[in-house]
Amino acid sequence: MIVTIDGVAASGKSSVSGGVAQALGIPYVSSGLLYRAATLLGLEGGLDLQDAPRLLDHLRAHPVRLEPLAAGNRVWLGEQEITDRLHSTRIDRGVSVVAAHPAVRAWVDEQLRALPEPFVAEGRDMGTNVFPHAPHKFYLTASARIRAERRSQERPENIPEIEAALLRRDELDRGQIAPAPDARVLDTGPMTLDQVIQTILADIRG
Ligand code: DC
Repeated sequence: MIVTIDGVAASGKSSVSGGVAQALGIPYVSSGLLYRAATLLGLEGGLDLQDAPRLLDHLRAHPVRLEPLAAGNRVWLGEQEITDRLHSTRIDRGVSVVAAHPAVRAWVDEQLRALPEPFVAEGRDMGTNVFPHAPHKFYLTASARIRAERRSQERPENIPEIEAALLRRDELDRGQIAPAPDARVLDTGPMTLDQVIQTILADIRG
């Protein structure tokens, strides 16, 4: 059984997916972390992030592994944990370029499809491309201002700056992002985190 939760940047996907997964007693899978790991490897390898073939060779030469847990995902590079290094502004800036390469998307999708079910899969295209047959699909939205306000609680930047960066990312992510025709779309703007989680759980339990 797979539940997919897609949505725009900073729409609350990770917190919602974690909450839903915990309530169901299954892991959640953050696909964005694999795109972030690919970006970190590219940057640390001194690669041009536009150069998809070199980037892919580099990725194939490194053992990146996503460990999906209900309490939060961890990412490993061999024996070394790199999770804490995946949420910097530098990665935020590069990740859209990396995620636009079809070869990188195939690298991520391959790893996701190899994971044992059940799980909650969170990202941009979980319900459309990666798990089109998932029985439960959700798509989260919220205005850029609300998302910026939420993110400002995690980052020491001002709200208009974060809002502008989010709008740029929405634009760059546009190719990957659209609700699956059978997804339930939730505007999380007026909802609390718990309301979003409970709405999704009620829908799943039908
Ligand atoms: O969810 P996130 O912010 O950690 O995702 C990081 C980036 O990865 C995001 O800018 C778009 C990309 N991404 C994607 O293209 N497809 C996914 N399924 C998940 C993330």
